[in-house]
Amino acid sequence: MAETTVASNADALTQAAFDHCVFPLIERREVHEGGPHIYAKGEGIVLTDIRGKTYLDMMSSHTRANVMGYGNDEIARAVYEQLKRLHYVGTIANLGEPAIRLAQKVAALTPGDLNRVLFVSGGSEAVESAIKIAKQYHVNRGAKPRAYKVISRWNAYHGATMGALAVTDWLGTRTIAEPGVPGSSFIPAPTSYRNPFGLDYEAYGAFCAEYLEQQILHEGPELVSAFIAEPIMQANGVQIPPPAYLPRVRAICDKYEVLLILDEIITGFGRVGQWFAAHHFGIVPDIITMAKAITAGYMPLGAVAARTDVIEAMPIFRHVHTFMGHLAGTAAANCNIAIYERENLIQKGRDNGAYFLDALQQAVGKHPIVGQVRGLGCWLAVELTADRKTKAPFADDTVKAVVQRMRKHGVLGSPIGDAFELAPSLITTRAQYDAATEVIARSIDEVARARRLV
Ligand SMILES: Cc1ncc(COP(=O)(O)O)c(C=O)c1O
Repeated sequence: MAETTVASNADALTQAAFDHCVFPLIERREVHEGGPHIYAKGEGIVLTDIRGKTYLDMMSSHTRANVMGYGNDEIARAVYEQLKRLHYVGTIANLGEPAIRLAQKVAALTPGDLNRVLFVSGGSEAVESAIKIAKQYHVNRGAKPRAYKVISRWNAYHGATMGALAVTDWLGTRTIAEPGVPGSSFIPAPTSYRNPFGLDYEAYGAFCAEYLEQQILHEGPELVSAFIAEPIMQANGVQIPPPAYLPRVRAICDKYEVLLILDEIITGFGRVGQWFAAHHFGIVPDIITMAKAITAGYMPLGAVAARTDVIEAMPIFRHVHTFMGHLAGTAAANCNIAIYERENLIQKGRDNGAYFLDALQQAVGKHPIVGQVRGLGCWLAVELTADRKTKAPFADDTVKAVVQRMRKHGVLGSPIGDAFELAPSLITTRAQYDAATEVIARSIDEVARARRLV
């Protein structure tokens, strides 16, 4: 895309960022080499940086939150109006109307009887809250009063606070923070392209589900409070489990009275073509965590939806955060959800995402360095491989090089381990998908040629 004018203070801003900002999850050296990405404005899905270069943002603001695109006037106004009318009233039993309306809406949108909703400020707080709900539920209900353990999965990401970190295994965030909260253990999770046991896709999914039963027995069923899982794992790019996996997990959790927490912080609110991934897989968990797209990133907000009887088992839920249910966040979410419904965005996202997946598969699916192009709804991954026969991942920085090349050509994606990811906004048009597909194909080929891989 075109370079236009250079902001007069671009160099000074870049220097100030180097001097004063902390960059998480990236080596300082890499930021110094590549520079921080400083943006000045956004419109639709087009971002403009402070030097005037424009990009098609195929990552929904990097974290996948921004499902509505930039510059949505309706959401901005809803937040402004709410802040003026009543911005904040505290916690405990102090509420405002937007929070109550949103709780009612989330109860209606989530599957089954997840009818009690707690609001927090983001994803990690939602996961912390879910884990604490599970533990207190077992204590108060009395059948398994010593259940404190949580089972999670290899490569899971559930957040950065200490409780969420204790069930996290991805991005090297856990080990540096250890010792963490006791009681967590990890089992293998289904992966789409390769797995450490060399099993085929369906067999590995079945193995991972049966492993859960063995792990519960090994840990002691009376001590296990919950199993937590991203329904589609983000590590190494959009790992879609076989259809039988989550229903089998549901049945195992039921057998041992272990609560099933689905972490839908990425997958919730239309990312994978349904309101929640649980709908896609046809299961009802006991607890769902959500954040990100609930406000399309216009305000920070997270939420936990739980079964009524799980919440009612606790006479007091001993947990609070100052900004639980903040009225600007809940007003943003109400407005955002109203737009989804009015514009039929769940269906549009599902259809346009399928169009993008098909276009990408046709454009790059047979390329010698592409192992697999997969996706569901508006969440896609292109898995690169150094050898299509053995499925070996690249041991060098080829994945990053492809994403950097895409960026140079004006399309934003994200490297995620052995794959790169695309998580476009639900408002992305087919013309924008076509433009992105062309750039992605060109970038893969240019990097492959430059490195003599083809
Ligand atoms: C699946 C999942 N859970 C939890 C979190 C943590 O959310 P937050 O960064 O809002 O604290 C994330 C963030 O990326 C996530 O992807």
